Amino acid sequence: MRQNIVAGNWKMNLTLQDGLALVSEITNMVADEVTGSQVQVVICPPFPFLYSVGKQLPEGSNFHLGAQNCSDKESGAYTGEVSGKMLQSVGAEYVILGHSERRQYFREDDFLLSQKLKAALAAGLKPIFCIGESLETREAEETFDFISKQLKDGLFHLSNEEFAQVVIAYEPIWAIGTGKTATSAQAQEVHAFIREQIARAYDAEAADNTTILYGGSANAQNARELFSQPDVDGGLIGGASLKSRDFTEIIKSF
Ligand code: G3P
Repeated sequence: MRQNIVAGNWKMNLTLQDGLALVSEITNMVADEVTGSQVQVVICPPFPFLYSVGKQLPEGSNFHLGAQNCSDKESGAYTGEVSGKMLQSVGAEYVILGHSERRQYFREDDFLLSQKLKAALAAGLKPIFCIGESLETREAEETFDFISKQLKDGLFHLSNEEFAQVVIAYEPIWAIGTGKTATSAQAQEVHAFIREQIARAYDAEAADNTTILYGGSANAQNARELFSQPDVDGGLIGGASLKSRDFTEIIKSF
C-alpha cells in the first residue's frame, strides 16, 4: 500500500548510547505529530542496536524499525550473517536491500539481491529496495535504461503479492553523501518512469500502490520540495537522519 515514509539509514555510525539518545530526541520532538499523521517513520540502525532501538520506539506509533541488510540464507553455517527471521524476531518490520554501497563495496549483484528479497519476504519483512545510477550513466543519458534493468533483474521476478510488500528507493549514486541532491524535477522524472515500468511489469493498480522514496542528500531544506512531487512518496535519509533537528524537520516536510 502506498504510504508517505521517511526512513533514516544510520549506516555504520554512532554507538548504542548515542543511537538511543538520538531516538529519544527524535521521538520527544515529533512522536505526537507522527502518530496523528499519515507519515510512517522507519529507523534503520546498525544490527547491534536493533533490539534496544526498537524497544524505545513508542508503542502504537507510526515509528517502525528497519535493518540495513539481511542474508539470502534462512539459517546455518554462515558466520557473521544475519537472517530475515532473526531481524523479525528483534522487531524489525523493514529491511534495506540493494543499497549502492552494498552493491559497490560488497559486490551484491542482482541475482544475490533477488535471493535476499525472497528471504526477507519469507521472514515477513518489507524490503526497501534501492536502485540508482552513477554519474557516468546519467551523463551518458542512459539513466532510464539502467534503472529499467535494475528493476527487471532485481525486482520484477516477484509475484504480485510479493511485490506489493516492496518499497522502492531511488538513490542516484552521484547524490549520496555528496550534498548534490537531485533536483525535484530530476527525482520526479525518474520516479514517474519507475511507476510506468511497474505498470508494464504488473498493472496500473500495482504502480499506483507502490511507495517510491527518494534518497541522496535529502535534507531539512530540500525535503518539502522533493516530497511535493506527485511520484515522490518520501525519503531514505542518510546523513541528515543522524541529526534529530534535521531529521524531524524532514519528517514534518509533507
Ligand atoms: O540510504 C540513504 C543514503 O544512501 C542517502 O545518504 O547521506 O546522501 O542522505 P545521504
